[in-house]
Amino acid sequence: MGPLSICLLLLALFTERVSASGSIFSRSGSNGEQDYIVYLGHLPSPESDTSSEPDEGLSSLEAAHHDLLNQVLDDGSYASDRIIRSYKRSLNGFAARLTEQQANKLADMEGVVSVFPSRTHELQTTRSWDFLGLPQPPQEELALEGDVIIGMFDTGIWLDSPSFSDEGFGPPPSRWKGICQNFTCNNKVIGARAYQNGVTGLSPLDEMGHGSHTASTVAGRAVGNVSFGGLAVGVARGAVPGARLAVYKVCWDDGGCLDMDILAAFDDAIADGVDVISFSIVTRFPFYYFKSPQAIGSFHAMRHGVVTSASAGNSGLSGGRVCNVAPWMLSVAASSIDRRFVDRVVLGNGKTIVGSSVNTFPPVNNVTLAFPIDGSCGPDDLVGDSYKGKILLCPVEDGFRTNISAGPLLAGAAGAIAAGIAPDAAFIYPLPALVVSESQFDEILAYANSTSDPVGTIERTYTMGNAQAPIAASFSSPGPNLVTPEILKPDLSAPGVDIIAAWSPLSPPSDDPKDQRRVQYSINTGTSMSCPHASGAAAYVKSVHRDWSTAMIMSALITTATPMNTPGNAGTNDLKYGAGQLNPTKARDPGLVYDASEGDYIAMLCTQGYNATQLALIVGSNTTACSNGSTSTAAASAGDLNYPSMAARVEPGKNFSLAFPRTVTNVGAGVAAVYDMKVIFTDPADNLAVAVAPCRLEFNAQTPKVSFTVTVSGMVPVAGQVISAAVVWSDNEHEVRSPVVVYTDSDD
Ligand SMILES: *[C@@H]1O[C@H](CO)[C@@H](O)[C@H](O)[C@H]1NC(C)=O
Ligand SMILES: *[C@@H]1O[C@H](CO)[C@@H](O)[C@H](O)[C@H]1NC(C)=O
Ligand SMILES: *[C@@H]1O[C@H](CO)[C@@H](O)[C@H](O)[C@H]1NC(C)=O
Ligand SMILES: *[C@@H]1O[C@H](CO)[C@@H](O)[C@H](O)[C@H]1NC(C)=O
Ligand SMILES: *[C@@H]1O[C@H](CO)[C@@H](O)[C@H](O)[C@H]1NC(C)=O
Ligand SMILES: *[C@@H]1O[C@H](CO)[C@@H](O)[C@H](O)[C@H]1NC(C)=O
Ligand SMILES: *[C@@H]1O[C@H](CO)[C@@H](O)[C@H](O)[C@H]1NC(C)=O
Ligand SMILES: *[C@@H]1O[C@H](CO)[C@@H](O)[C@H](O)[C@H]1NC(C)=O
Ligand SMILES: *[C@@H]1O[C@H](CO)[C@@H](O)[C@H](O)[C@H]1NC(C)=O
Repeated sequence: MGPLSICLLLLALFTERVSASGSIFSRSGSNGEQDYIVYLGHLPSPESDTSSEPDEGLSSLEAAHHDLLNQVLDDGSYASDRIIRSYKRSLNGFAARLTEQQANKLADMEGVVSVFPSRTHELQTTRSWDFLGLPQPPQEELALEGDVIIGMFDTGIWLDSPSFSDEGFGPPPSRWKGICQNFTCNNKVIGARAYQNGVTGLSPLDEMGHGSHTASTVAGRAVGNVSFGGLAVGVARGAVPGARLAVYKVCWDDGGCLDMDILAAFDDAIADGVDVISFSIVTRFPFYYFKSPQAIGSFHAMRHGVVTSASAGNSGLSGGRVCNVAPWMLSVAASSIDRRFVDRVVLGNGKTIVGSSVNTFPPVNNVTLAFPIDGSCGPDDLVGDSYKGKILLCPVEDGFRTNISAGPLLAGAAGAIAAGIAPDAAFIYPLPALVVSESQFDEILAYANSTSDPVGTIERTYTMGNAQAPIAASFSSPGPNLVTPEILKPDLSAPGVDIIAAWSPLSPPSDDPKDQRRVQYSINTGTSMSCPHASGAAAYVKSVHRDWSTAMIMSALITTATPMNTPGNAGTNDLKYGAGQLNPTKARDPGLVYDASEGDYIAMLCTQGYNATQLALIVGSNTTACSNGSTSTAAASAGDLNYPSMAARVEPGKNFSLAFPRTVTNVGAGVAAVYDMKVIFTDPADNLAVAVAPCRLEFNAQTPKVSFTVTVSGMVPVAGQVISAAVVWSDNEHEVRSPVVVYTDSDD
């Protein structure tokens, strides 16, 4: 079995695993029909259909979609009954309701790249920017930022937030082709569209808060004296307060985020003229590139120089793996910042227990503690018993998290104390409540059992420093990359724990609809929050380097990231956070970049089992260059892609030696520069050797690019082990750091 077939076999297994997981589903009808995406590759140039809205008649591309589909409809129905949406502005394809047989027939037809079900996905002060060392921009930079447009794929926007005021903003850049549908925009938020089940024209208003939170993290203006009920007081701002926002609402309260809507948003956003796409939508596992709307969409975005920054995923606790792994998009892990929210309960015996929550309710003083008779704080379990005015003690329910929202509030409790895993984030509840560890919970129970009148006081939350930050968040989905083991994912990490940002007053700050509170700013946690930090940093770099490619911007962010604190097993953490923590200020002046063109990604896709026919459809026939056999190919391995990090999966206990060819481009202030190499080993005891040749790079006006080869050799003794190092190029002014990570599969 050659390397190619091993790779394909793994992909097949992994595809099954994805569809078997319960968190992703597709809708199916009574005749076994369901919604599919039919991906046809690039737009037939040059006369692509750039109209922003379909008009009365069919465009020629839409007519072609209908013709193609009519060829497989054998049940008397017509394409016009089946097609939900045509993609025709930035990429070619359509969404349609089909039977499985029809989908299979289409997949075999000439001109079709892939056919896959449209699934549903989850969404899962800014002190954080100060923590990252990004200063508030001076006036002249705000003007540069004004030319940068960020597309937010999220739950819409609450435009009345002071974070989105357009005071002092000029009109949108003249190249902007976007529109505001069913929404009045301003000069800060210059585009707004909504997509639901293929329907457009609905309101892009944010009814959930999530979209306003992420948008203000990317590009909210500086707003002073922001807090959540007096907590976390400070200035809230985005990375690029002067930049413009365009909103693509693809996620809904009552339906998640659908593949076919996500692809429609990419189709529009690229043609509208966004520079950066911020994509805080996650799956439990990744998908094969051309069966995933975000990989397809971000590929076409890359062709237009648009950077897509996406969440790595929130399934670290439940064994999921990093998603959004295509090499032409950033996958962003979440880590902590230097602030924590803690809350205390004081028991009647004087004992104080410190837990976590974001609790701004007045203290609940000396109230009776009650253990639920059914042993659960679920809403149904509390019915009929008298917990009114008491503090409920809620044991762990689903293994790691207790939902203390609905039950205690419905039962009229005065507060709740829940047992959970040692939490690394604090959450907002609709009543005075906190989460404590299981041993602390047992201590509270022992006290409650020891007296006939157990009482406790739940205080208000206060903030504390967190000297260990940044630490990778436990929920952040780890690598390895299940699709292409040679591409290190996540790429880097950004703040994603307890982030305060704008909120929509149409939604309560906790996830309980019965919570009556309404706020302008709220605190939230997830890779949904870390992604917009990276999107903002990408926009920041783009604002000063308008002509940089997607790969150059990704490289600048990755090679300047700060290696993170690594308590515990140092190596494994490289698969958790990639290159380390985002450093936007350094990313602006990275010294050297690892660039990659569309052709380089195509060469990499050739190593992944795609053939010239398929690749020609995706990019147009002339650029494709897969060589004929699996031997002596232009790119022998995906590790040959000029990526700013290096990774490999190897066999346990076997010697390996791998070569990574790389080329760097000098983007420093002077055309002449000399860089010397050093290798940093995470753990010198590891059986790893890294050789770089040449180990000095000299740049001048004639030689802006220099190539070198990194040879990594050694042995990884056991399954499930990760060993790592870093190759760093330095000219004494810049440090250009690439993580090198070698790992073995775990046994399970
Ligand atoms: C605007 O959005 C609302 C809410 O989504 C919807 O009910 C209404 O039909 C939309 N209006 C138009 C003109 O499409
Ligand atoms: C900040 O906001 C708080 C609460 O909204 C208010 O009481 C206080 O006066 C404000 N402080 C300033 C300096 O505006
Ligand atoms: C709670 O009860 C304790 C013991 O009776 C008492 O010392 C304390 O002052 C009470 N706290 C409040 C806030 O009422
Ligand atoms: C907790 O319960 C509330 C009310 O039933 C629900 O809306 C929310 O989604 C639940 N949260 C989690 C994390 O399960
Ligand atoms: C305390 O009481 C609860 C409920 O009656 C019981 O389940 C638990 O085992 C007791 N815990 C301790 C530590 O005594
Ligand atoms: C390319 O791959 C597709 C899908 O696997 C296959 O149908 C086609 O025959 C292949 N073409 C060539 C030239 O190998
Ligand atoms: C592809 O090549 C043909 C013939 O060499 C040329 O006429 C055509 O313009 C090229 N198309 C593109 C998209 O470069
Ligand atoms: C690949 O195959 C085509 C036709 O099958 C042939 O014309 C071409 O020379 C081959 N290229 C290489 C690099 O072998
Ligand atoms: C692996 O490499 C080590 C160190 O170079 C060498 O001593 C050993 O013989 C090699 N083992 C095999 C199986 O090649």
